[in-house]
Amino acid sequence: MSKIYLDNHATTRIDPVVVEAMLPWMDRFYANPGSTTHEAGREVKQLMEDAVTSIASQFDASPDEVIITSGATESNNLAVFGVCQHPRQKKRKIVSLVTEHQALLGPLERLAKSGFDVVYLPVQKHPSAEAGIVDLQRVADAVDSETAMVSVMLSNNEIGAIQPIREIANICSRFHVPLHTDASQAVGRMPIDIKKLGVNLLSFSGHKVYGPKGIGGLVVHSTSAPLRIYPQIVGGGQQQNLRSGTLNTMGIIGLAKALELAAKYCERDTKHVFGLRNLMWSRLSAAVDGLLFNGPSWEEESASPTLDQVKVSRRLAGNLSLCFPKVEGQSLMLETPNLALSSGSACTSTDSAPSHVLRAIGRSEDQSRATLRVGFGRFNTREEVEFAVDLLIRAYEKLSTFVA
Ligand SMILES: Cc1ncc(COP(=O)(O)O)c(C=O)c1O
Repeated sequence: MSKIYLDNHATTRIDPVVVEAMLPWMDRFYANPGSTTHEAGREVKQLMEDAVTSIASQFDASPDEVIITSGATESNNLAVFGVCQHPRQKKRKIVSLVTEHQALLGPLERLAKSGFDVVYLPVQKHPSAEAGIVDLQRVADAVDSETAMVSVMLSNNEIGAIQPIREIANICSRFHVPLHTDASQAVGRMPIDIKKLGVNLLSFSGHKVYGPKGIGGLVVHSTSAPLRIYPQIVGGGQQQNLRSGTLNTMGIIGLAKALELAAKYCERDTKHVFGLRNLMWSRLSAAVDGLLFNGPSWEEESASPTLDQVKVSRRLAGNLSLCFPKVEGQSLMLETPNLALSSGSACTSTDSAPSHVLRAIGRSEDQSRATLRVGFGRFNTREEVEFAVDLLIRAYEKLSTFVA
């Protein structure tokens, strides 16, 4: 068997149906959607409006509630700076989690340097079954009428922990505090309805959901009071002046198609990756003494779970973060060159410091370095997983003899 891709949290393979939808946009539809002085421009403008309407409908939002961006990093920047740096923003406190992605921590650090009080809430630690999940009482204690915004990711990119966003939204609404969620890892992996979730701002990226890279969005949903966003990219006034620049037409078409497929296949994909995760965990834990998983626990009895069982889970169905006794994740990856795995977040993989997420759930530095992150996806098969498990067991047995 050739290369096996098991790094679906870093990115996903673009679905062939998405590629097909995008191809005509490479040559046929080249007009600028802003060029309404001619027929070609008007045609593209209409098709863009249809695509954005389709994207919005996947979140139960209206098209004017969606700002197209280059991906979740830009969406997070727009949400955080857009709300906190608005000239009419008087509040100076932000509440977030220690386990957020760098794409959120980066903007927060910058705001902290400019005088904001950023409160990073801890998450529960092992051996709790809810390791990685915030304690709601901590949120309730931190949020007050001086809070400019709360930002809590929907699901974590390293350990798959799903945060209780609906309950956090209830706390925020008591003080009319806008709630932002980075849903990059959740979109396509669980049904998302912005109104039911109760969030005001939601970031996502196309390439995490079998769509193209360099495209994503921020859904902005005002509840009681209108949400004021200070634009970060100014220029030609596109997208209601909130994000200037000629639209990435081909990317938008790909994003719309990817989200349409995600909605269609959410149940099938979720059950599929749940089964693959259980298969890998049951075989590896039987073969490797002392193997641990990082993050919240899950019910693994059911070989073919219903979507309802999967939905109530505290963890993404396709995530498995493994901590191998005494053998470094990096060494295991070197020993299994046919497997695409990761030791943590792709965006911080050049950083040799142990993962801040693993440290936050109580893992030691050594345990963090002994971690492998597996992300199962739509295109993985049981045969691939069986083969990957064989390779990992062999590699572990070889490497562990050197440290015994
Ligand atoms: C939770 C989370 N947020 C944000 C990002 C950044 O997404 P992008 O690189 O598409 O901007 C990622 C990607 O790894 C992620 O996993």
